[in-house]
Amino acid sequence: MPSAEFQLVLESLRNEVNDSLEKCEYLQDTSSRLFQAMRYSLLAPGKRFRPILVQLSCEACAGNRMLSLPAAAAVEMVHAYSLIHDDLPAMDNDDLRRGRPTCHKQFDEATALLAGNGLLTLAFKMLGEHITPEDVSQQCVIELADAAGVFGMVGGQMDDILQEGKTEGTLEQLQSIHARKTGALISASCRIGAIIGRTISYHSDPVAQLTKYAEQLGLAFQISDDLLDVQSDAATLGKNTQKDAAKGKLTYPGLLGIEGARKELQLAHERGMEALKPMGASAQRLGELLTYVVERDR
Ligand code: IPE
Ligand code: IPE
Ligand code: MG
Ligand code: MG
Ligand code: MG
Repeated sequence: MPSAEFQLVLESLRNEVNDSLEKCEYLQDTSSRLFQAMRYSLLAPGKRFRPILVQLSCEACAGNRMLSLPAAAAVEMVHAYSLIHDDLPAMDNDDLRRGRPTCHKQFDEATALLAGNGLLTLAFKMLGEHITPEDVSQQCVIELADAAGVFGMVGGQMDDILQEGKTEGTLEQLQSIHARKTGALISASCRIGAIIGRTISYHSDPVAQLTKYAEQLGLAFQISDDLLDVQSDAATLGKNTQKDAAKGKLTYPGLLGIEGARKELQLAHERGMEALKPMGASAQRLGELLTYVVERDR
């Protein structure tokens, strides 16, 4: 369990993110079906783990986290889009997400596709219009495009689907899929926060160090997602469980067994903590976030 103090930190950062998403100037047209669908998925009760990572990484680099808030919102928009599309019948075909019917169940498939496209593109408008100065905004755009696109999440999602039902998957293939489908956006969240924070403080470059941390954090996040699919239940998670085995997905518990997957999770925790050491006290909350991910139950 995270300390009571860190739980309060998480809650207050989550509130900040929720408030900025709720008030986002691009999403106020509630009369339109498209916007209703976008708001339905974006504002649903997610953990806001990626935007919190942007905020904490910005602070770890001595930045003012309020300046990173538009980027935090942008990352959550990309994440929400990815969940809408991941749940579509053509992909994982899920009907429950964040404790509610999935977007295509609540609306329809065409609306869900377009709501996802809408959120993805708005994320880049957000970075372009609300992150300053221009060179920092440009770096954030490139980070997010790489992480979300064919070199990151889209590429990983493709291989995740292609691997379905095959029995001969290797650990290398699994690592490569996880690093892109989940890890890339988590790394980008960390790097974007650091890029924004660093410009404020002008101190030495921590982006490379935080990237090493983020690789382990992303790995830990998807191993625990795979474990929760096997070991948790829909009431706790807000999404259906036992789906990966039913679809023949290549996962950590599938390949290494529950105990093997747990061991990998612990190793990722140790390596991630090690990567934070050179950053000292400024990275303490990022360490707590990693521990929270390793121990999470939803
Ligand atoms: C679920 O992400 C999808 C994965 C990449 C594993 P989260 O577990 O962060 O989902 P929410 O945002 O809390 O709903
Ligand atoms: C999803 O991975 C990764 C995304 C890019 C959305 P999963 O398919 O394992 O995520 P859940 O378990 O449905 O949330
Ligand atoms: Mg999937
Ligand atoms: Mg899925
Ligand atoms: Mg999963």
